[in-house]
Amino acid sequence: MSPRVIQTIRVLALGGVALAAALPLGGCRGDRSDKPPRQFFPDMDNQPRWNPQADSEFFADGRTMRKPVEGTIPFGTTAMVSNADWAAPFNAKRAEFLAADAALYEGVDEWGDFLEEIPVPVTAEMLRVGQGKFNIYCAVCHGYNGEGSNPAIDPELGSMVGRRWSIPVANFHDPRFRAGGEFGRAGYIYMIARNGKGVLPNQTMPGYAHALDSAETWAVVAYIRALQRSHQGSLIDVPETERSTLGTPPPPQTETPPPPKTETAPTGGES
Ligand code: HEC
Repeated sequence: MSPRVIQTIRVLALGGVALAAALPLGGCRGDRSDKPPRQFFPDMDNQPRWNPQADSEFFADGRTMRKPVEGTIPFGTTAMVSNADWAAPFNAKRAEFLAADAALYEGVDEWGDFLEEIPVPVTAEMLRVGQGKFNIYCAVCHGYNGEGSNPAIDPELGSMVGRRWSIPVANFHDPRFRAGGEFGRAGYIYMIARNGKGVLPNQTMPGYAHALDSAETWAVVAYIRALQRSHQGSLIDVPETERSTLGTPPPPQTETPPPPKTETAPTGGES
């Protein structure tokens, strides 16, 4: 035989072998079978597991899904068990969530009524914190001086957002929001600061609980009280020795200050 013929036979023979090898594989495709499919690379395809909501014979209540242990507080996506430095702020937040003190954390008394007073001692440092947070989170709408949009006084005087917004922003100097006013309880202001007012899509004010923890929120409430006090001063609050430096008192705004005392200046000689 010529080499050319031998070559042809070889090619044919090899082809035949390959075809014979492929036949059983190709022939099985799509056919139904009771046998488990062949898995050449199982890659952890098969593992024991329970489907959600499935029955279980293992647990006494027959459920595969277990309830969280009673009293569990969900916190974040991972359990905070680290004592490392980086975890400290998370652990502090967690401790705050776990604390059960309605006055401190919700601004209400044991009957669920809003507290009249701030439930923590007000310090100068607290007012500084409150001022910082108020200026960051509240001033855009309520104004640095707390006057809100205040169209009653002068539309141009209101806060940046307030004077351009169709929704009137509360003016904290309105007697309603002062201590003793209808909406003036410290606990109520605290609750509004954390939760906002209204529910989407009719929410008029967003809540700031994501940005202010409870201590910071009380600090903001204390600062609002300071702002309110600053608008309620009268000449009597000024030491007598300083009164002459004040000049003419500005026209009354929300409250009429008592008329300045006309003191007879000591003249010395005349009588
Ligand atoms: C995006 C603008 C905006 C910001 C920021 C904002 N407020 Fe307000 N706030 C409003 C508006 C608008 C109202 C009036 C809501 C109404 O009467 O429906 C309001 C009302 C209030 C009231 C009175 C609630 C009532 O019952 O009338 C309080 C108290 C208050 N805000 C506190 C705060 C504090 C504290 C902050 C900062 C942590 C803050 N707000 C930040 C827009 C804002």
